[in-house]
Amino acid sequence: MADARITVRTESPIGHVDPALHGHFAEHLGRCVYDGLWHSDEDTAEGYRDDVVSLLEALEMPVLRWPGGCFADDYHWKDGVGPRDDRPRRRNLFWAQGPNELPEESNAFGTDEFLQLCERLDTEAYLAVNVGSGTPQEATDWMEYCNYDGDTDLANRRRENGHDDPYGVRYWGVGNENWGCGGRMSPEQYAREYRRFATYAGATTNVMFETDIELIACGFSDHEWNRRFLEEVSSGPTGPEFPLDHLTLHHYYGQTISVADADEDDYDRFLHDALEMETHIHRLASAIDAVATTRDIGVIIDEWGAWHTEAVPENGLEQPGTVLDALSAAAVLDIFTRHSDVLTMTNIAQTVNVLQCLVETDTDTAWARPTYHVFDLYAPHKDKTAVTTAVDSPTRTLEDDDDDLPLVGASASVGDDETFVTLTNLDCTAAHTVELALEGVATDSSTIEAQILFADHDPDATVTADTAAEFTAADLSVDADDTLTIDLPAATVAAITVR
Ligand code: AHR
Repeated sequence: MADARITVRTESPIGHVDPALHGHFAEHLGRCVYDGLWHSDEDTAEGYRDDVVSLLEALEMPVLRWPGGCFADDYHWKDGVGPRDDRPRRRNLFWAQGPNELPEESNAFGTDEFLQLCERLDTEAYLAVNVGSGTPQEATDWMEYCNYDGDTDLANRRRENGHDDPYGVRYWGVGNENWGCGGRMSPEQYAREYRRFATYAGATTNVMFETDIELIACGFSDHEWNRRFLEEVSSGPTGPEFPLDHLTLHHYYGQTISVADADEDDYDRFLHDALEMETHIHRLASAIDAVATTRDIGVIIDEWGAWHTEAVPENGLEQPGTVLDALSAAAVLDIFTRHSDVLTMTNIAQTVNVLQCLVETDTDTAWARPTYHVFDLYAPHKDKTAVTTAVDSPTRTLEDDDDDLPLVGASASVGDDETFVTLTNLDCTAAHTVELALEGVATDSSTIEAQILFADHDPDATVTADTAAEFTAADLSVDADDTLTIDLPAATVAAITVR
């Protein structure tokens, strides 16, 4: 008998699911770029890692944020362009780089390597400029190098470096975590810095580019900080002005546990912390609504994901890829679909080898982690219209806390003559049966396709090169009548397409 009931209100739209809600983030940190996206051993090999790029190509990544993270506010882009032999080797104040685990940056992978990777992946680039230790001049020079089609020194340098046409980079982040590693600024201080950068970036755009650029301010998980930032950034002499298109925050969870050592209560707490994403989205959107009454500003979550005790600076923030983490990613992607009315982009951290990466490598091989399969399974939401889901789910009260974890979750979208529903069973100890009603859809006479992830795995199952193939989606049988009945084993993710 069903113990969870979900109704999809197919006529109750929430918003367009921008493909950018399934975006990614790659930083010069540990083995994300060097040994991840790019071969680091310059004696034997140089260039993109084709095994990694093939896996990423198959994911159809909508957007990729680069070069950081904290790295961005100590990065000077001019070091990473031009003939590779002439590029200076620098230290970076943040994170271990490359195989020597030293905070040194070879600059072998720079702007052109990144933007040409994006072209190869058919992915929109999102560049984070250096505010903490950089200048508006450096930022606008970067924009000119990337996007200008005229006859200036910087545009010509791009041509000399092998790219005749402007890259047309649309997304520009003005700093990263400027409340922390990006300068330890108060909200008012960041707002004033932001306004200065945005003035020159905006003017550069008006004068020089055909591409409409979008400026992104980096907010905080403290929403009072965000409110103060918005108040200050908009206070101009001629009335409120909002020189930003998006405001972001970062949400990591799981930092007190290692999945290998965790018990079932820890799993519940971890998943509950992942679901806090919903509160952050509400609160950031509310701060924007309250202050920015004269323009639309999108909410971006430009770093998110599981971060466990194993991931420390000394190992380049590496941690095992587990089913539990992938389960959390599914629950968070459901939140993103349900909030597609306010969200404009999200970027999981990070693409390769670091934190909740989707792809892991050793010297010779690259393989997909369980989280990769979640992104793949959820891909049909992209570009559809999210619709309301009413979920009546069993819950469990967290140990030592009054809060409850909803054990079954969902999101739904419509388009292309189909309804697409994703489901999670966040209960790592028991199966649940879902009765799924699709308003206005004759499910008894529809074509139904369903797939499930992780039915044969425990939450702490860890992927390796040898076991990677075991984590792919399997067909799922669904009982179809006026409603659909779906059995979800413990700690699983399912996707159902109804045509
Ligand atoms: O993703 C790792 C780090 O987490 C980033 O460099 C920083 O922005 C965040 O604190």
